[in-house]
Amino acid sequence: MSKKTVITGGTVLTASDEFVADVIMEGGRITALVQPGTGPKDAEQLDAKGCYVFPGGIDAHTHLDMPFGGTTSSDDFETGTTAAAHGGTTTIIDFAIQQKGGTLKQALDTWHQKAEGKALIDYGFHMIATDLPPAQLTEMKAIVDEGVTSFKLFMAYPGVLLLDDQSIFRGMLRAGEIDALITMHAESGLPIDILVERALAEGKTAPIWHALTRPEAAEQTGTERAIALAEMANVPVYIVHLSARRALERVMEARDRGLHAYAETCPQYLFLSEDDLRGTPEDPFEGAKYVCTPPLRPKDTHEHLWRGLRNYDLQVVATDHCPFCMKDQKELGRGSFAKIPNGMPGIETRLHLLWEGVRTGKISKNRFVEITSTAPAKIFGLYPRKGSISVGSDADVVIWDPNERFTLSQENLHMRVDYAAYPQKTVIGAPRTVISRGEVVVDRHQQKLKSGRGRFQKRGRLWS
Ligand code: URP
Ligand code: ZN
Ligand code: ZN
Repeated sequence: MSKKTVITGGTVLTASDEFVADVIMEGGRITALVQPGTGPKDAEQLDAKGCYVFPGGIDAHTHLDMPFGGTTSSDDFETGTTAAAHGGTTTIIDFAIQQKGGTLKQALDTWHQKAEGKALIDYGFHMIATDLPPAQLTEMKAIVDEGVTSFKLFMAYPGVLLLDDQSIFRGMLRAGEIDALITMHAESGLPIDILVERALAEGKTAPIWHALTRPEAAEQTGTERAIALAEMANVPVYIVHLSARRALERVMEARDRGLHAYAETCPQYLFLSEDDLRGTPEDPFEGAKYVCTPPLRPKDTHEHLWRGLRNYDLQVVATDHCPFCMKDQKELGRGSFAKIPNGMPGIETRLHLLWEGVRTGKISKNRFVEITSTAPAKIFGLYPRKGSISVGSDADVVIWDPNERFTLSQENLHMRVDYAAYPQKTVIGAPRTVISRGEVVVDRHQQKLKSGRGRFQKRGRLWS
């Protein structure tokens, strides 16, 4: 007989409700929600007194073990998912990358090999398509049948990941035929490359130039173009890592017109700014820690993004976790900001940071659950298996202590990277216990199970 566990004494939070109940789990699933104290006495009891109980976080945008910028992201599926679990995330969706000229299946096999037997928590994949000749347009259906139901296309990184508009449009039309979702890196990369060339020719090499050569206008026009192409193809579109106010306005306008435009932002765009890219007066290169794409924006963007989250114009907060160490990795760009590998660590600190949004009245507790778990589950075809505290759902649950003070310093975190992005920041609210398919994976900051137990999640279609 499989083991029963009861979470007792907590307050359950979902995307819509808040209520007092004990949560019974068995066989990896939630089997009942009962009046406090009425659960089976012979079951293992997990104390949630004074805590909230909500669905495990779903991080819909991570890059583990990813070759990029002449190096490889420093977390692999073992270290990255371990860090994720410490932060209250129980499912990630990572990106497989098609080699130019290669098949999508080759990319999927490669990413299965990277994850298999290493992940601590469950995982799925999106497919980055870098080349869509007729054979790969056909192949997209086989990838969807494998449970990879979303594709990321790039308007940025010419010569590496960028797809031209015809290929993007063909990809969108095909996605419409096979019920897949197109997600878009919506920055117009061709003019950006010219700005980069000019800046370097003028001797402007410091990390701040990463932001100054990727202006908001590039993201605005990319977002507008992505939405217009999706409108012409009559398909939904999901804009990844939206950072700019002007890009958000394009999404709002599209949604007001009734288009199925979705967008995610990331904690770094809500908490950090362009100023962080300036580094310190002693060493401007310290700003390399904050080089990610799209770049960090001026501080006054924060309030607009928070409002977008509150008003449902932004649906998801994912991390775009793509860590590189300063030593040997970010350092590749000491003489040229264009050679700094793009990306930041964040897989472990998403829930801590967003709970600050709850504490300071920027979003409600229910909205917190929605943007960190329920909405990504629905958009990426994991709902109601994931993203929900309800009978029959996977028992992916966080017991969250809203009173714990926790500093986001490097020594408190598990991401395999040699710096912390928010080293001085003390938050109030942290996961006490993190449960994946009914098993306690982290309890009071201690890892309880070995990595390798995480399972690949076949995903379905956009839930609407
Ligand atoms: O800086 C970033 N975002 N690195 C990862 C690649 C991407 O575009 O998502
Ligand atoms: Zn991207
Ligand atoms: Zn990314």
